[in-house]
Amino acid sequence: MTTRTLREYLADPKGDGNPAPRELASLIEAMSDSCRTISYLVSRGALADVLGSAGTGNVQGEEQKQLDVLANDELMAMAKSTGVVAAAASEEEDDARAITPGAPYLLLFDPLDGSSNIEVNVSIGTIFSILPAKAGENAFLQSGRNQAAAGYCVYGPQTTLVLTLGQGVAAFTMDPPTGQFVQTGANIRIPEKTKEFAINMSNMRHWADPVRAYIDECLAGDAGPRAKNFNMRWIASMVADVHRVLTRGGVFMYPWDKREPGKPGKLRLMYEANPMSLLVEQAGGRSFDGTQQILDIQPTGLHQRVSVMLGSKEEVERLEALHSA
Ligand code: AHG
Ligand code: MN
Ligand code: MN
Repeated sequence: MTTRTLREYLADPKGDGNPAPRELASLIEAMSDSCRTISYLVSRGALADVLGSAGTGNVQGEEQKQLDVLANDELMAMAKSTGVVAAAASEEEDDARAITPGAPYLLLFDPLDGSSNIEVNVSIGTIFSILPAKAGENAFLQSGRNQAAAGYCVYGPQTTLVLTLGQGVAAFTMDPPTGQFVQTGANIRIPEKTKEFAINMSNMRHWADPVRAYIDECLAGDAGPRAKNFNMRWIASMVADVHRVLTRGGVFMYPWDKREPGKPGKLRLMYEANPMSLLVEQAGGRSFDGTQQILDIQPTGLHQRVSVMLGSKEEVERLEALHSA
Protein backbone atom coordinates (compact mmCIF):
# COMPACT_ATOMS: atom_id res chain seq x y z
CA MET A 1 0.00 0.00 0.00
CA THR A 2 1.15 3.46 -0.88
CA THR A 3 1.98 5.82 1.96
CA ARG A 4 1.15 9.01 0.13
CA THR A 5 -0.44 11.81 2.06
CA LEU A 6 -3.58 13.48 0.70
CA ARG A 7 -1.42 16.38 -0.48
CA GLU A 8 0.88 14.01 -2.37
CA TYR A 9 -2.12 12.25 -3.88
CA LEU A 10 -3.56 15.56 -5.10
CA ALA A 11 -0.22 16.36 -6.74
CA ASP A 12 -0.64 13.29 -8.96
CA PRO A 13 -4.05 11.63 -8.50
CA LYS A 14 -3.99 9.56 -11.69
CA GLY A 15 -0.37 8.51 -11.42
CA ASP A 16 0.42 10.17 -14.77
CA GLY A 17 2.41 13.08 -13.38
CA ASN A 18 -0.46 15.57 -13.72
CA PRO A 19 -1.72 17.34 -10.59
CA ALA A 20 -5.38 17.95 -9.75
CA PRO A 21 -6.48 21.50 -10.64
CA ARG A 22 -4.71 23.73 -8.13
CA GLU A 23 -7.78 25.46 -6.71
CA LEU A 24 -9.66 22.18 -6.41
CA ALA A 25 -6.73 20.60 -4.59
CA SER A 26 -6.55 23.51 -2.17
CA LEU A 27 -10.28 23.21 -1.44
CA ILE A 28 -10.02 19.49 -0.79
CA GLU A 29 -7.05 19.99 1.50
CA ALA A 30 -8.95 22.67 3.39
CA MET A 31 -11.90 20.30 3.63
CA SER A 32 -9.61 17.66 5.13
CA ASP A 33 -8.35 20.22 7.67
CA SER A 34 -11.95 20.88 8.71
CA CYS A 35 -12.65 17.16 8.94
CA ARG A 36 -9.66 16.82 11.29
CA THR A 37 -11.10 19.58 13.47
CA ILE A 38 -14.57 18.01 13.49
CA SER A 39 -13.06 14.59 14.16
CA TYR A 40 -11.29 16.00 17.20
CA LEU A 41 -14.50 17.51 18.56
CA VAL A 42 -16.35 14.24 17.93
CA SER A 43 -13.63 12.24 19.67
CA ARG A 44 -13.79 14.41 22.77
CA GLY A 45 -17.58 14.29 22.95
CA ALA A 46 -18.83 15.05 26.44
CA LEU A 47 -15.34 16.23 27.46
CA ALA A 48 -15.68 19.11 25.00
CA ASP A 49 -19.33 19.60 25.95
CA VAL A 50 -20.42 19.19 22.33
CA LEU A 51 -23.07 16.47 22.72
CA GLY A 52 -26.80 17.09 22.82
CA SER A 53 -29.24 19.46 21.23
CA ALA A 54 -28.41 22.97 20.09
CA GLY A 55 -31.99 23.94 20.92
CA THR A 56 -32.64 25.09 17.34
CA GLY A 57 -34.22 23.67 14.19
CA ASN A 58 -32.93 23.67 10.61
CA VAL A 59 -34.65 24.52 7.33
CA GLN A 60 -35.90 20.92 7.08
CA GLY A 61 -37.67 21.26 10.42
CA GLU A 62 -35.21 18.88 12.10
CA GLU A 63 -33.78 19.43 15.55
CA GLN A 64 -30.17 20.60 15.35
CA LYS A 65 -27.53 19.02 17.53
CA GLN A 66 -24.63 21.06 18.86
CA LEU A 67 -22.28 19.16 16.55
CA ASP A 68 -24.48 19.92 13.51
CA VAL A 69 -24.01 23.62 14.24
CA LEU A 70 -20.31 23.44 15.15
CA ALA A 71 -19.46 21.39 12.06
CA ASN A 72 -21.52 23.73 9.87
CA ASP A 73 -19.75 26.80 11.23
CA GLU A 74 -16.35 25.18 10.80
CA LEU A 75 -17.05 24.34 7.15
CA MET A 76 -18.51 27.75 6.31
CA ALA A 77 -15.44 29.46 7.81
CA MET A 78 -13.19 27.12 5.86
CA ALA A 79 -15.07 27.87 2.60
CA LYS A 80 -14.38 31.54 3.14
CA SER A 81 -10.72 31.09 4.02
CA THR A 82 -9.89 29.19 0.83
CA GLY A 83 -10.77 31.99 -1.59
CA VAL A 84 -11.82 29.40 -4.18
CA VAL A 85 -15.49 29.00 -3.15
CA ALA A 86 -17.92 31.35 -4.89
CA ALA A 87 -20.84 30.20 -2.75
CA ALA A 88 -21.57 27.47 -0.22
CA ALA A 89 -24.76 25.64 0.71
CA SER A 90 -25.41 23.49 3.75
CA GLU A 91 -28.13 21.10 4.82
CA GLU A 92 -28.28 23.17 8.01
CA GLU A 93 -28.87 26.59 6.42
CA ASP A 94 -31.95 28.00 4.69
CA ASP A 95 -30.13 29.62 1.78
CA ALA A 96 -26.80 29.36 0.03
CA ARG A 97 -24.20 31.90 1.13
CA ALA A 98 -22.25 34.01 -1.33
CA ILE A 99 -18.59 33.68 -0.31
CA THR A 100 -15.92 34.83 -2.79
CA PRO A 101 -17.24 36.51 -5.95
CA GLY A 102 -15.70 35.12 -9.12
CA ALA A 103 -14.19 32.07 -7.42
CA PRO A 104 -14.32 28.80 -9.40
CA TYR A 105 -16.28 26.41 -7.17
CA LEU A 106 -19.55 25.89 -5.33
CA LEU A 107 -19.34 23.85 -2.14
CA LEU A 108 -22.24 21.86 -0.70
CA PHE A 109 -22.20 19.82 2.48
CA ASP A 110 -24.01 17.79 5.07
CA PRO A 111 -21.78 18.96 7.93
CA LEU A 112 -22.70 16.16 10.29
CA ASP A 113 -24.46 13.09 8.94
CA GLY A 114 -26.02 10.62 11.34
CA SER A 115 -26.99 13.12 14.01
CA SER A 116 -29.09 10.53 15.83
CA ASN A 117 -25.90 8.55 16.52
CA ILE A 118 -23.87 11.35 18.12
CA GLU A 119 -24.80 10.68 21.72
CA VAL A 120 -24.50 6.91 21.41
CA ASN A 121 -20.88 6.90 20.19
CA VAL A 122 -21.66 5.37 16.80
CA SER A 123 -19.97 6.45 13.55
CA ILE A 124 -21.04 9.75 12.02
CA GLY A 125 -19.54 11.82 9.22
CA THR A 126 -19.32 14.81 6.90
CA ILE A 127 -20.42 14.62 3.24
CA PHE A 128 -19.38 17.15 0.60
CA SER A 129 -19.93 17.94 -3.05
CA ILE A 130 -18.01 20.41 -5.24
CA LEU A 131 -19.61 21.89 -8.37
CA PRO A 132 -18.17 24.34 -10.88
CA ALA A 133 -19.33 27.89 -10.17
CA LYS A 134 -21.99 29.37 -12.42
CA ALA A 135 -23.61 32.76 -12.59
CA GLY A 136 -27.19 33.36 -11.57
CA GLU A 137 -29.65 32.51 -8.88
CA ASN A 138 -29.89 28.82 -9.75
CA ALA A 139 -26.15 28.23 -9.95
CA PHE A 140 -26.41 25.29 -7.54
CA LEU A 141 -29.10 23.46 -9.48
CA GLN A 142 -26.71 21.32 -11.52
CA SER A 143 -27.05 17.59 -11.93
CA GLY A 144 -24.71 15.36 -9.95
CA ARG A 145 -22.81 14.52 -13.14
CA ASN A 146 -21.35 18.04 -13.01
CA GLN A 147 -19.57 17.44 -9.70
CA ALA A 148 -15.86 18.25 -9.89
CA ALA A 149 -15.28 16.21 -6.76
CA ALA A 150 -17.24 14.56 -3.98
CA GLY A 151 -16.42 12.76 -0.78
CA TYR A 152 -17.09 12.10 2.82
CA CYS A 153 -15.20 11.74 6.05
CA VAL A 154 -16.43 9.10 8.48
CA TYR A 155 -15.67 9.59 12.16
CA GLY A 156 -15.56 6.01 13.33
CA PRO A 157 -12.95 3.77 14.93
CA GLN A 158 -10.75 5.52 12.36
CA THR A 159 -11.29 8.90 10.73
CA THR A 160 -11.36 8.08 7.03
CA LEU A 161 -11.74 10.46 4.10
CA VAL A 162 -13.07 8.93 0.88
CA LEU A 163 -12.72 11.02 -2.23
CA THR A 164 -13.41 11.06 -5.94
CA LEU A 165 -12.25 13.62 -8.48
CA GLY A 166 -14.31 11.79 -11.10
CA GLN A 167 -11.56 9.29 -11.93
CA GLY A 168 -11.88 6.51 -9.39
CA VAL A 169 -12.18 6.52 -5.63
CA ALA A 170 -9.37 6.83 -3.09
CA ALA A 171 -9.40 6.59 0.71
CA PHE A 172 -7.22 8.31 3.31
CA THR A 173 -6.99 7.45 6.98
CA MET A 174 -6.10 10.16 9.47
CA ASP A 175 -3.03 9.27 11.51
CA PRO A 176 -3.84 10.76 14.95
CA PRO A 177 -0.26 11.49 16.10
CA THR A 178 0.40 13.69 13.06
CA GLY A 179 -3.12 14.55 11.91
CA GLN A 180 -2.06 13.64 8.36
CA PHE A 181 -4.49 11.95 6.00
CA VAL A 182 -2.51 9.04 4.57
CA GLN A 183 -3.72 7.10 1.54
CA THR A 184 -5.04 3.69 2.52
CA GLY A 185 -7.22 2.87 -0.47
CA ALA A 186 -6.78 3.29 -4.24
CA ASN A 187 -9.18 2.56 -7.12
CA ILE A 188 -11.80 1.27 -4.72
CA ARG A 189 -14.27 -1.08 -6.45
CA ILE A 190 -17.58 -2.21 -4.99
CA PRO A 191 -18.00 -5.97 -5.42
CA GLU A 192 -20.69 -6.48 -8.09
CA LYS A 193 -22.34 -9.37 -6.32
CA THR A 194 -23.05 -9.31 -2.62
CA LYS A 195 -25.44 -10.59 0.01
CA GLU A 196 -25.99 -7.61 2.26
CA PHE A 197 -28.76 -5.01 2.33
CA ALA A 198 -29.28 -1.90 4.44
CA ILE A 199 -32.74 -0.43 4.94
CA ASN A 200 -34.75 0.73 7.93
CA MET A 201 -37.08 -2.27 8.19
CA SER A 202 -39.41 -0.48 10.58
CA ASN A 203 -40.84 1.32 7.53
CA MET A 204 -41.69 -1.92 5.72
CA ARG A 205 -45.45 -1.41 5.83
CA HIS A 206 -45.03 1.96 4.10
CA TRP A 207 -42.80 0.85 1.20
CA ALA A 208 -43.69 0.94 -2.48
CA ASP A 209 -44.37 -2.49 -4.03
CA PRO A 210 -41.04 -2.87 -5.91
CA VAL A 211 -39.07 -2.16 -2.72
CA ARG A 212 -41.19 -4.64 -0.80
CA ALA A 213 -40.70 -7.20 -3.57
CA TYR A 214 -36.92 -6.74 -3.52
CA ILE A 215 -36.62 -7.16 0.25
CA ASP A 216 -39.01 -10.13 0.16
CA GLU A 217 -36.66 -11.78 -2.34
CA CYS A 218 -33.68 -11.09 -0.07
CA LEU A 219 -35.49 -12.43 2.99
CA ALA A 220 -36.49 -15.60 1.13
CA GLY A 221 -32.79 -16.46 1.06
CA ASP A 222 -31.49 -19.54 -0.70
CA ALA A 223 -35.02 -20.92 -1.06
CA GLY A 224 -36.15 -17.80 -2.96
CA PRO A 225 -35.56 -16.40 -6.44
CA ARG A 226 -32.16 -14.94 -5.53
CA ALA A 227 -30.98 -18.35 -4.35
CA LYS A 228 -28.71 -16.94 -1.67
CA ASN A 229 -28.99 -15.90 1.95
CA PHE A 230 -28.73 -12.19 2.68
CA ASN A 231 -27.49 -10.41 5.77
CA MET A 232 -28.80 -7.04 6.96
CA ARG A 233 -27.11 -3.95 8.47
CA TRP A 234 -28.55 -0.54 9.35
CA ILE A 235 -26.27 1.94 11.12
CA ALA A 236 -28.60 4.93 10.54
CA SER A 237 -25.64 7.10 9.50
CA MET A 238 -25.68 7.14 5.71
CA VAL A 239 -21.99 7.92 5.72
CA ALA A 240 -21.17 4.76 7.69
CA ASP A 241 -23.61 2.56 5.76
CA VAL A 242 -22.22 3.78 2.42
CA HIS A 243 -18.67 3.32 3.69
CA ARG A 244 -19.48 -0.33 4.37
CA VAL A 245 -21.01 -0.68 0.89
CA LEU A 246 -17.89 0.83 -0.72
CA THR A 247 -15.68 -1.42 1.36
CA ARG A 248 -17.36 -4.80 1.05
CA GLY A 249 -20.40 -4.31 -1.16
CA GLY A 250 -24.14 -4.46 -0.59
CA VAL A 251 -27.02 -2.14 -1.21
CA PHE A 252 -28.08 0.90 0.81
CA MET A 253 -31.68 2.08 0.52
CA TYR A 254 -33.67 4.96 1.88
CA PRO A 255 -36.54 4.80 -0.57
CA TRP A 256 -39.67 6.91 -0.88
CA ASP A 257 -42.41 5.54 1.33
CA LYS A 258 -46.06 6.23 2.13
CA ARG A 259 -45.50 7.95 5.48
CA GLU A 260 -45.48 11.32 3.74
CA PRO A 261 -46.43 10.48 0.16
CA GLY A 262 -45.80 14.01 -1.10
CA LYS A 263 -42.19 13.90 0.08
CA PRO A 264 -39.86 12.23 -2.45
CA GLY A 265 -37.73 10.63 0.27
CA LYS A 266 -35.82 11.42 3.45
CA LEU A 267 -32.33 12.01 2.13
CA ARG A 268 -31.26 15.18 0.41
CA LEU A 269 -30.19 15.15 -3.23
CA MET A 270 -27.57 17.89 -3.15
CA TYR A 271 -25.86 17.14 0.19
CA GLU A 272 -26.19 13.37 0.48
CA ALA A 273 -27.44 11.49 -2.59
CA ASN A 274 -25.37 13.21 -5.31
CA PRO A 275 -21.95 13.03 -3.64
CA MET A 276 -22.55 9.42 -2.52
CA SER A 277 -23.84 8.48 -5.98
CA LEU A 278 -20.71 9.85 -7.67
CA LEU A 279 -18.52 7.85 -5.29
CA VAL A 280 -20.58 4.70 -5.86
CA GLU A 281 -20.58 5.05 -9.66
CA GLN A 282 -16.86 5.78 -9.65
CA ALA A 283 -16.40 2.55 -7.70
CA GLY A 284 -18.36 0.56 -10.28
CA GLY A 285 -21.71 0.57 -8.49
CA ARG A 286 -25.08 2.10 -9.38
CA SER A 287 -27.44 4.59 -7.85
CA PHE A 288 -31.20 4.77 -8.59
CA ASP A 289 -34.15 6.84 -7.37
CA GLY A 290 -36.95 4.57 -8.57
CA THR A 291 -37.09 6.03 -12.07
CA GLN A 292 -33.59 7.15 -13.08
CA GLN A 293 -29.94 7.22 -12.13
CA ILE A 294 -29.56 9.73 -9.31
CA LEU A 295 -26.72 11.59 -11.04
CA ASP A 296 -29.06 12.33 -13.98
CA ILE A 297 -31.64 14.16 -11.86
CA GLN A 298 -32.03 17.82 -12.79
CA PRO A 299 -32.39 19.49 -9.38
CA THR A 300 -35.20 21.96 -8.83
CA GLY A 301 -34.43 23.01 -5.26
CA LEU A 302 -31.38 23.27 -3.06
CA HIS A 303 -32.92 21.23 -0.26
CA GLN A 304 -34.87 18.76 -2.38
CA ARG A 305 -35.21 15.21 -1.15
CA VAL A 306 -34.88 12.04 -3.13
CA SER A 307 -35.50 8.32 -2.94
CA VAL A 308 -32.14 6.54 -2.72
CA MET A 309 -31.07 3.00 -3.69
CA LEU A 310 -27.35 2.58 -4.27
CA GLY A 311 -24.51 0.10 -4.11
CA SER A 312 -23.43 -3.10 -5.82
CA LYS A 313 -24.31 -3.20 -9.49
CA GLU A 314 -26.19 -6.49 -9.47
CA GLU A 315 -28.41 -5.50 -6.54
CA VAL A 316 -29.30 -2.06 -7.91
CA GLU A 317 -30.00 -3.58 -11.33
CA ARG A 318 -32.40 -6.02 -9.67
CA LEU A 319 -34.13 -3.06 -8.01
CA GLU A 320 -34.32 -1.28 -11.37
CA ALA A 321 -35.86 -4.38 -12.99
CA LEU A 322 -38.49 -4.63 -10.24
CA HIS A 323 -39.30 -0.94 -10.65
CA SER A 324 -39.91 -1.30 -14.38
CA ALA A 325 -41.89 -4.56 -14.10
P1 AHG B 1 -28.73 13.67 9.10
O1 AHG B 1 -28.17 13.26 10.42
O2 AHG B 1 -27.74 14.44 8.26
O3 AHG B 1 -30.06 14.38 9.21
O4 AHG B 1 -28.99 12.37 8.22
C1 AHG B 1 -29.55 11.23 8.81
C2 AHG B 1 -30.01 10.31 7.72
C3 AHG B 1 -28.98 9.30 7.24
O5 AHG B 1 -27.69 9.51 7.67
C4 AHG B 1 -29.49 7.98 7.74
O6 AHG B 1 -29.29 6.99 6.77
C5 AHG B 1 -30.95 8.21 7.98
O7 AHG B 1 -31.10 9.58 8.23
C6 AHG B 1 -31.47 7.42 9.15
O8 AHG B 1 -32.84 7.60 9.22
P2 AHG B 1 -33.78 6.72 10.18
O9 AHG B 1 -33.56 7.21 11.56
O10 AHG B 1 -35.17 7.00 9.63
O11 AHG B 1 -33.40 5.26 10.00
MN1 MN C 1 -27.28 13.39 6.57
MN1 MN D 1 -26.70 16.33 8.75
